[in-house]
Formats: sequence, C-alpha cells, structure tokens
Amino acid sequence: MSDQSAFDTDVWTLTRFVMETGRKVKGSTGELTQLINSLLTAIKAISSAVRKAGLAHLQGMAGQVNVTGDDVKKLDVLSNDLVINMLQASFGTCVMVSEENKEIVITPKDKRGKYVVCFDPLDGSSNIDCLASIGTIFAIYKRISEGEPTVQDALQPGKEIVCAGYALYGSATLVALSHGAGLNFFMLDPAIGEFILTEKNVQMKKKGKVYSLNEGYAKYFHPSINEYLKHKKYPEDGSEPYGARYVGSMVSDIHRTIAYGGIFMYPANEKSPKGKLRLLYECNPIAFLIEQAGGLATTGTQRILDVKPESIHERVPFVVGSSDDVNEYISFVKKYS
Ligand code: AHG
Ligand code: MN
Ligand code: MN
Repeated sequence: MSDQSAFDTDVWTLTRFVMETGRKVKGSTGELTQLINSLLTAIKAISSAVRKAGLAHLQGMAGQVNVTGDDVKKLDVLSNDLVINMLQASFGTCVMVSEENKEIVITPKDKRGKYVVCFDPLDGSSNIDCLASIGTIFAIYKRISEGEPTVQDALQPGKEIVCAGYALYGSATLVALSHGAGLNFFMLDPAIGEFILTEKNVQMKKKGKVYSLNEGYAKYFHPSINEYLKHKKYPEDGSEPYGARYVGSMVSDIHRTIAYGGIFMYPANEKSPKGKLRLLYECNPIAFLIEQAGGLATTGTQRILDVKPESIHERVPFVVGSSDDVNEYISFVKKYS
C-alpha cells in the first residue's frame, strides 16, 4: 500500500487470487476458477441473508409462533439452494454432497464439469437464534469415474482435496481458502462486495493455551479423554492450566483455533460412538486447512485426511489444532490402547 494514501489501489481480491492461482497451473482450463467464483457468489448471498435473518428474527418474535424454527430452517434451505444453484451454474461440477441432501446431487448433463464438491451450507445453524457466528464449509475434488458420475466420486479420502475453505459469518465475513499451497484469509469488504486478502500463508502456533469441546459429555467420554482434560485443567508440570472456549459453531471454534492456537475436539462418546461431525463436509475440509497452517487433525488413532469414506454422511471423531497439542492428545489415547 502506498503511504500517501489510505487506499490500496492494487488490491488482492479473492477473485484475483483465485484467477492467478489457476493461471499458474499448467494446462488449466479455468474451470476451477469459475467454480470457486460461483461459490463465492453463494457465500456473499448467504452472508447477506444471515445478517438479515438476525433482524427478521427479532422482528418476527413479536407475533408469529414458530417463526424461529421456520427461519432457521429457511436459512439452512436457502443456503443449500444458493450453493447448489451457483455451483451448477458454474459448469464446473458433476457431483455434490450436501449436509442437507440425503443422496448425492448429480449436476444435469448439460451443466457438468469435472469437479466434486462436498459442503455444509450452514454450519452451526442452531446458533442463528442467539446471533453467534455461523459458517459454510466446502471441499473440492476432481472426479475419478468416467461416464456417469457416481457416489464413488464423492467417497475420496481428504488427502485428495484440490481446494477447500470455509466462510465465517462473524463480526465480519471471512473466507479461509487453500489450494494446497498454504492457507490464506480474505475479509469481505461490504462496500465493494469483494473479499480482500488480509492474511497470507497463515501458520498456527505450535502450542496454544485453549482447549475447546463440549465438556458436558464428560460422563460419556472414554477415560483417556477425561484424563487429558484433567491434565489441561490441573497440570502437574508447573505449567499454567489451559483456558476453555466453546462456541458450538465449528467454524467459529476452528477459526479461533487457527488464529490463536490450541485444540478443538469432538471426540467419540458412549452416546455418539463416532462423534457428531461429518467426515466429508465438516472434518475433511477443516483438516486440510489446519494441515496447511501447520496443525494436525486426527481421529485419535488416524490422520483425518487418510480416512477412506464409506458413506457420504459418515461421522468421525475429530481432534484438530496446534501440532504439539494434538500430539499430546494422541499420547493420552495411546496410553489406553
Ligand atoms: P450443523 O449446524 O451443520 O448441524 O453443525 C453443528 C455442529 C458444529 O458446528 C458444532 O461444532 C457441533 O455441531 C456442536 O455440537 P454439540 O451441541 O453436540 O456440542
Ligand atoms: Mn455442520
Ligand atoms: Mn449445517
């Protein structure tokens, strides 16, 4: 930025960044660029809808019964429709997996491209009513089948991800994106309707000071997890106890974990033997981004990105964050195995 002016006249927008990244790939056709740009349109529209939903909710409470539940559902459905329609309009997809659709969504023949997109259109939607931050998560793969697209195209392990990201509808709207060459943050400037590159090649701290999980399930956790948590609260090595933070919107909890360091966990418990979070559109994209930032993501016994999915909505225990913290967690798991 020139020091004579407060204005950056050569600004790196996300659109520009995506175009430049695409250009660098030999033999690229621009299909992925077009796909991501369409997805960004959906994200901007969701951001706008999310901001309005807060207001609409406050107004609606006065008279209508059930408006809250309906609104929440509307916003989920609206986000899902936006992502599906924008992606299909990009001519870049053949198969989609959405949290909101029981089966894979196959793109009509005349609009097909070579990419597969797995997404959670609105993550943390139970937080809409209390106006806490929510998000959108996505992972993009290249199709592997020839001919008619199949569910196998969507059942690839996370290590095959071509590009992943999330949008966080927080105090500002942010997009975190990686093509596998580092993690970058972009902030939405509502005045020009563009995402601006604000942090390049983000790297996480090796060790944080915060642990993040729904500790209300402690009764149902495996003893190894409770022992790990006890160690965070009552360290016996003279170190300070960790702070606890849990929004209950994964994108918010993850964004804080990337920004400040620490560990986020949704482990298995007796009632949810594979945890809650979904491998294809929650865990894999986040694991990919966290690894790009120098962190780790594990089930406790296996690297998340190595897990071979068997069905599109499968769940997986999920522990991610700063490398030292995740390795320490793994050492507690090992003690019990
Ligand atoms: P979604 O809104 O897409 O269904 O996901 C909510 C998820 C995730 O964002 C969060 O980390 C988790 O649910 C919270 O679950 P608990 O209420 O069990 O802690
Ligand atoms: Mn979710
Ligand atoms: Mn969701």
